[in-house]
Amino acid sequence: MQDKFYLTTAIDYVNGAPHIGHAYEKILSDVIIRHKRQITDNAYMLTGTDEHGIKIQKTAASKGITPKELCDENFSKFEQAWKELEISYDQIIRTTDEKHKKVVKQIFKKLLENGDIYKHSYTGLYCNGCEAFLSAKDLTEDGLCPDHQKKPEEITEENYFFRLSKYKDKIADYIKSHPNFIRPASRVNEILNQLENIEDISVSRTKSSVQWGIEVPDDDTQSIYVWIDALSNYITAIGYDVENPSDQFKKLWPANVHVIGKDIIKFHSIYWSAILMSLGLPLAESIYAHGWITLDQSKMSKSLGNVIAPHDVLKAFNLEKPDAFRYYMASAAQTGKDGNYSDDDFKEKVNADLANNIGNLLNRTLNMLVKYFDGEIKSEFVTNKDSKIAILAANSKEQIINCFNNFEIAEAANIIVAFADNVNKYVTENAPWTLAKEGKMVECGQVLYNVLEAMRHIAIMLYPYCPNIAADILTQLDEEQNYKYDKLVWNGIKTGKITEKDKIKPVFLRLDSEFATDKKKG
Ligand code: ME8
Ligand code: MG
Repeated sequence: MQDKFYLTTAIDYVNGAPHIGHAYEKILSDVIIRHKRQITDNAYMLTGTDEHGIKIQKTAASKGITPKELCDENFSKFEQAWKELEISYDQIIRTTDEKHKKVVKQIFKKLLENGDIYKHSYTGLYCNGCEAFLSAKDLTEDGLCPDHQKKPEEITEENYFFRLSKYKDKIADYIKSHPNFIRPASRVNEILNQLENIEDISVSRTKSSVQWGIEVPDDDTQSIYVWIDALSNYITAIGYDVENPSDQFKKLWPANVHVIGKDIIKFHSIYWSAILMSLGLPLAESIYAHGWITLDQSKMSKSLGNVIAPHDVLKAFNLEKPDAFRYYMASAAQTGKDGNYSDDDFKEKVNADLANNIGNLLNRTLNMLVKYFDGEIKSEFVTNKDSKIAILAANSKEQIINCFNNFEIAEAANIIVAFADNVNKYVTENAPWTLAKEGKMVECGQVLYNVLEAMRHIAIMLYPYCPNIAADILTQLDEEQNYKYDKLVWNGIKTGKITEKDKIKPVFLRLDSEFATDKKKG
């Protein structure tokens, strides 16, 4: 048993409302943390919002409201979206929180005292989308930021700089000696290449160009800008303090994983590592960089007008619970790869896996239990843990734990589905209806027992993805809602009468084509 697991997500910019790309990361993170809670009592998930910076200042100005008003408005949209998706974070931090601002100033001061921050006059190309200076070689042939397809602004200012170059070798050594640090490992070379050319970075802007930021301590002409502010959330949230860190901080830090998108891996693996090294703090065990979600195979963007919110999907398919969407998103891409959302795929995938494969299996089996045994699991049905299905269940459990240790969230979902597939085949092969017809009632009961015990396992394994469907399955098996992995032992299901005809309900209704979707028009 792991003693603790601390997971953080990227904190989202609140210059707009959440879309399904943001939702993807929070769902992945939530699936991981729910799984970890099945294994340890000390799993802690932090999410939050990134609320300072020029983009927010400009968006607010264009709407005629204050930056704080814009932040409040959009923060509640994120909060609402995560509630609807049942993201079970333990804490949500806003970088405008007073406590965060206070500790960011401490951190800045400490880096200054360490000689890692110095003042320097500078001319550079600033991309507002990245909230970072780019060097000429980062740009496309047309001189655009490759991520934002916009021309960076040329800015001359006297700013504070962070001595990133000093940490270059130390970070490279760390990455090479910690194979779990950058996940998936396929990204390691890209980071090592970026490190080769790394230069010191500007970490402040003049107040005259950016007002909406945390003030540099003892210098009211400059705002802290912006990655020191944003990245520090991972430690300020849990009570870091340069003088006197909290017990919670001592218990949770270092983070076990920072879940982030592939576009911000440089900031996490290089900038953040250097900041932590300067502060004398250990680095996270892993940075897990997920891929990007496209919509109907094209990049979502506000300017293209093809951004959809998670709520739009639930509404279009008349879904009261987020399970199907969570399941689809969590399965949408292999670790670190890009994924795609489309209505048709969504429907097909959840109908196949949740309705047909898993839902029908439970439904058919409970109906047979009622028909042949009046809803009772008799003690003579209890089967040996060496039976084929019991072994498959134990193997699936081990494989899933392994997958989660490697952040293979879609792969873990496939293992559940493959297990359910095998159980379906087992039912076909053993034809309990034929056994009943032949009067082989104990054999028939044993087959049903194996299937129902497998369903109990499936509910627990599916829980991180589909908490409501899992709960429905356990309820229909008359089992308590306990999803701990120590419940994944064979013969754990209780015997006796567990159901009757009118208690049996589908746990997931097929999505019908008539619900498909006019959401992009509305
Ligand atoms: O980058 N598919 O904020 P952000 C998958 N504030 N993930 C996506 C996505 C998509 N289409 N669009 C965005 C920031 N994301 C900073 C982070 S962390 C200290 C500061 C992911 O709102 C993106 O990769 O632009 C990032 O991990 C997160 O959503 C927030 O993006
Ligand atoms: Mg972004």
